[in-house]
Amino acid sequence: MKGIILAGGKGTRLQPLTKITSKQLLPVYNQPMIYYPLQTLLKAGIREIMIIVAPENAGDYLNFLGSGRQFGAKFTFEVQDEPKGLPQAFEIADNFIDDDDVALILGDNIFSHDFSANVQSFKSGAKVFAKKVEDPERFGVVELDDSQKPLRIVEKPVEKISDYALVGFYIYDNRVVELAKSLKPSARGETEIVDLHNWYLNKGELEVEKIEGEWFDAGTFDSLLKASNFMASRR
Ligand code: DAU
Repeated sequence: MKGIILAGGKGTRLQPLTKITSKQLLPVYNQPMIYYPLQTLLKAGIREIMIIVAPENAGDYLNFLGSGRQFGAKFTFEVQDEPKGLPQAFEIADNFIDDDDVALILGDNIFSHDFSANVQSFKSGAKVFAKKVEDPERFGVVELDDSQKPLRIVEKPVEKISDYALVGFYIYDNRVVELAKSLKPSARGETEIVDLHNWYLNKGELEVEKIEGEWFDAGTFDSLLKASNFMASRR
């Protein structure tokens, strides 16, 4: 399985810090943020990893991460010129993914969960992960039936449908590449990852698993601080 870390975007919610460097290079306790999603992929046994960054500060990622050899992995870097949506990662990574399955992790998502069993057992379709949260309106949200089957997924629902947020780690089979290319931008001018999920959901090929442990989307000042405090407390 190939891995992608999507670490582009403009980091507008973290200004003025992101006027100095990009969000995913900001410190989370004692490491740049991107180190954590990278560790999550490596722990899951993924060794071929594409890192997608914004043009600003792109060189800093190369400097910090290098070839990947010191991590026992191989890194490939790509630039996303404009943040046109999460699914664009699969278009950018088309050649890199080749005929393989692919796991995508968002560069500002920090997990204590070990995904290796999920990666190893993946066969086909799409697999996404849910976590109970207090502020579901900030996330993609999944409604599950009594047997944990997904009923519907809504991005940042205005009316509450469930407490289960979809976290920023996703596994797809190879069909996701062509599917991502076929998506039309939503009203906010970006393609939406929820459209990928719904495509697999409508085919009955979307699996949702609840995860335990800590999860942070470190894209706001409060969550960045919480993530730093959590990492500090683990030492
Ligand atoms: O953190 C989990 C959530 O991530 C999910 O629950 C949502 O379903 C998913 O849409 C996403 O929501 P966000 O509001 O966090 O998305 P955001 O636009 O902030 O993008 C997430 C990260 O991906 C962010 O670090 C920037 C990066 N990004 C985003 C876009 C749209 C890119 O690198 N390129 C892009 O084109």
